[in-house]
Amino acid sequence: MLTGITTSGTPHLGNYVGAIRPAVAASRGEGVESFYFLADYHALIKVQEPARVQRSTLEIAATWLACGLDPDKVWFYRQSDVPEVQELTWLLTCVAGKGILNRAHAYKAAVDKNREAGEDDDAGITAGLFMYPVLMAADILIFNADKVPVGRDQIQHIEMARDFGQRFNHLYGEHFSLPEVVIEENVATLPGLDGRKMSKSYDNTIPLFVPREQLRKLIFSIVTDSSAPGEPKQTEGSALFQLYQAFAGAEETAAMRQAFADGIGWGDAKQALFERIDLEISPLREKYQALIADPARIELTLREGAVRLRETYAAPLLKRVREAVGLRDLS
Ligand code: TYM
Repeated sequence: MLTGITTSGTPHLGNYVGAIRPAVAASRGEGVESFYFLADYHALIKVQEPARVQRSTLEIAATWLACGLDPDKVWFYRQSDVPEVQELTWLLTCVAGKGILNRAHAYKAAVDKNREAGEDDDAGITAGLFMYPVLMAADILIFNADKVPVGRDQIQHIEMARDFGQRFNHLYGEHFSLPEVVIEENVATLPGLDGRKMSKSYDNTIPLFVPREQLRKLIFSIVTDSSAPGEPKQTEGSALFQLYQAFAGAEETAAMRQAFADGIGWGDAKQALFERIDLEISPLREKYQALIADPARIELTLREGAVRLRETYAAPLLKRVREAVGLRDLS
């Protein structure tokens, strides 16, 4: 089981329900070997501010640990501490179809934006953005991950990783297992404050560990329709309801569905959502605050993880695939 988070900002509720919470729960299962990492090579595609990448790395690491990841039981590391990922990226680049990369959502969205603005298709688009899915395939294939828990926005990338792995296997022998995506259906795409997908790029996120009062304020700023208290409310398409569902159990969700039908006022619904989220987050928030106050300890944990991981898996795999494609054995 493997998943990563890009170190380009402060972790938000979407990262938590889409990746961190399911990944930490799964890592507690018997017989599962887990790999969780901070995707800082990926961050450079979007962020060219070194201090922000470093701060985000610290915040995301502290978040994983606060949410219950046990670094003695799972592999926990920073992507750029495992430089073998880069070498594998090149080997995969040489089998990856350019036509497939042309269809990647993030790249296509950037091209569409240029077209709308009347610019050249590729204006301002870096080769890094274009190659993003190959780097992500290397992350996954280097540890032969079978399951990748992610939010819906990442499905296409996992499919591409399968495709590149398959092509490599076809040409050079069975070196890679092909990963499967793991999606939690009711939280696959968590909406943000404005109802669109919660995303750093839309500036509509609820950061996971904001102080309690600020959490309440943000939740009260979620966009709703203009129906008055007493009027029945639609759960379909309601960001507020979807957020509630992502945190509440089946019974509480059913009760909220009924409250919507009975015309609960938006203020009351928001208060209930705030209380439900805060109940789950506040013990984690305390742990987070203690962890983030000791960056040296986090740094040590990450470095130790990467050293062992390189020796155990990354270097031996690179040795095998270098040989398979006809490069010299460096050992
Ligand atoms: P990133 O950093 O954008 O997001 C990290 C994880 O959070 C999930 N997520 C969401 N889930 C539900 N609702 C949302 N609104 C929401 N927003 C984000 C994402 O689906 C993701 O699971 N390219 C990846 C990081 C990465 C990776 C990997 C993931 C790099 N290499 C290898 C898995 C395997 C990314 O940018 O995620």
